[in-house]
Amino acid sequence: MTDGPTAGTPRPSGSAGGFPAVRPRRLRRTPALRRMVAETHVRPEQLVLPVFVAEGAREQRPIASMPGVVQHTRDTLRAEAARAAEAGLGGIMLFGVPETKDATGSGAVDPGGILNVAIADVVAEVGDALPVMADLCLDEFTDHGHCGVLDVRGAVDNDATLEAYAAMALAQAGAGVGVVAPSGMMDGQVGVVRAALDAAGHADVAVLAYAAKYASAFYGPFREAVDSSLVGDRRTYQQDPANAREGVREALLDVDEGADLVMVKPALGYLDVLRRVADAVPVPVAAYQVSGEYAMLEAAAANGWIDRQPAILESLLSIRRAGADVVLTYWALEAARWL
Ligand code: PBG
Repeated sequence: MTDGPTAGTPRPSGSAGGFPAVRPRRLRRTPALRRMVAETHVRPEQLVLPVFVAEGAREQRPIASMPGVVQHTRDTLRAEAARAAEAGLGGIMLFGVPETKDATGSGAVDPGGILNVAIADVVAEVGDALPVMADLCLDEFTDHGHCGVLDVRGAVDNDATLEAYAAMALAQAGAGVGVVAPSGMMDGQVGVVRAALDAAGHADVAVLAYAAKYASAFYGPFREAVDSSLVGDRRTYQQDPANAREGVREALLDVDEGADLVMVKPALGYLDVLRRVADAVPVPVAAYQVSGEYAMLEAAAANGWIDRQPAILESLLSIRRAGADVVLTYWALEAARWL
């Protein structure tokens, strides 16, 4: 017996004379054909730029582990926000780096605290042209570096922290924020923030919930970016990287509590979680391509080990393909120029 079909014998489907009749490669032959059948696209309006603003800074401070990313001054932040609006980005996400920290993170709720004044600055600059979002978490403002306040034993006190988050949400709303992004992984944080906003007449402020946020080693460079004072880890409140189903549960809880969008974080190592969350929730889904993802690729590119631009674009496309409607990425401005 030969391998090929003989006369009078029906051909096995998908083959002709021993050669394949079904040829997916036909649609890959030219760039125009590939473009026609591309399932996934990355558009500037799907990208959100995370930015850092440092209290008292007179000039931009580079962040060594995130080449190309800086701690902004209030003025350079305004200019960056104007560029983000000009580029048609989906939004800008603000992180504050205060000059002083204390046990309760009081700088977070102070209307004169760096994050709140920066929100007002950016809103004054871009108005409604660019959604202005803010990280709603205490870790940049506490001297122990945890995302909440501590109880007498030194453990993060969930419910006491919720009260602080409610106050922080009101401070951010008072400064004009469009979207608050609770990122501390306290149980009930979305419900408490939503209720506080509504009770104070801020029903229009949206909540982007860091819903499935994992205790990840890939946040390392961010800790430098915000001058973090954390000793230890966040494993009693952020999720175990072993668990995907729990990520879906967290996202569903946040939707029940009133989240307008939910986020999965980090992105590249958690694309399975992203897909499962995107399939499970009825709200838009964001993914955060975190500092360690950025640093890894920049380091490889700087060494000539990887082709920078296609690698960045492929990473963004992969995150979109896995189900993200919105991607937070430190490359947002640069990528928008390429798209
Ligand atoms: C918490 C927060 C963190 C990041 C975003 N929001 C740090 C953490 O949870 O330890 C990490 C972002 C990144 O790594 O790019 N305020």
